[in-house]
Amino acid sequence: MVDDRRITAVVNAVKQSKKYSDTSEETIRELAIAAVRHHKKPKAAVKAVRRQLHGIMAPYLGDPDYDEALTRLTAVFAANDQEQIKAACADILDTHLSTRERQPLLPAFYDEIFAVTGKPKRLLDIACGLNPLAFPWMGLDTDTELYAYDIHEPRIDFLNGYFELQGLRPLAKVQDIAYRFPEEEADVALFLKEMPRFSRHYGELGRPLLEALRVRWLVISFPAVSARGGRRLDGRYREFMHQLIEGHKWPITEMLFGDELLFCVQKV
Ligand SMILES: C[S@@+](CC[C@H](N)C(=O)[O-])C[C@H]1O[C@@H](n2cnc3c(N)ncnc32)[C@H](O)[C@@H]1O
Repeated sequence: MVDDRRITAVVNAVKQSKKYSDTSEETIRELAIAAVRHHKKPKAAVKAVRRQLHGIMAPYLGDPDYDEALTRLTAVFAANDQEQIKAACADILDTHLSTRERQPLLPAFYDEIFAVTGKPKRLLDIACGLNPLAFPWMGLDTDTELYAYDIHEPRIDFLNGYFELQGLRPLAKVQDIAYRFPEEEADVALFLKEMPRFSRHYGELGRPLLEALRVRWLVISFPAVSARGGRRLDGRYREFMHQLIEGHKWPITEMLFGDELLFCVQKV
């Protein structure tokens, strides 16, 4: 039995640090429980949590200044100029590596995915980062319910601010999907470019996550080229994807968008 006071001390120390004060407390607490079991000294436990958060949050991938970004969006929505709205969303998407890489692909990306899955009325974006800002390229009506999950609090507040400007319901949530799988029913769940990192941090949890999602379609993508060295990863991730759903008779459609390898999996 781990002493709750030791856990709380680690959570508080991490929450007080500048770098991780914006991280979901749920995430920090779960990591602190494990760290306190492995490390007797509080300093070592705090260090272990911070090291894991660095990998999970991936702050090196980039962030906009959220206040400035929302101010800009507020202004362009007030002007009601669709080109300016798209340009502002594009600039904000550009501040994070995953969405920056996807940006040139956006004109075809969702058209081709939804041609396979059908246009969702309810869409989940799991470990979303800034991807919901791609809504203007999705070709969806504003009565679509877009649930977005992340563990970075200012990002989620910002996304809800954007959703309201865009006429969508503010359905972005601070939720750690490793400890609480999304329970909302939906037509499609996006899990873009996060499965490799998720498996690195949470081991075998990818398969139960995919099984638990209450959706008709899973859309899962992988970086097809290694960040270091530029090696092709298509073969490795294709095999991994098939392993993740092995034993299920779920039809799978593979697509390649630039360097993003993507699978539409129909849960039947
Ligand atoms: C590489 S980014 C991918 C962003 C987005 N899916 C995309 O492709 O544009 C990973 C995001 O997942 C979030 N994340 C990581 N682990 C998470 C977890 N367990 N629960 C919820 N969000 C998580 C991070 O905060 C980060 O915003």
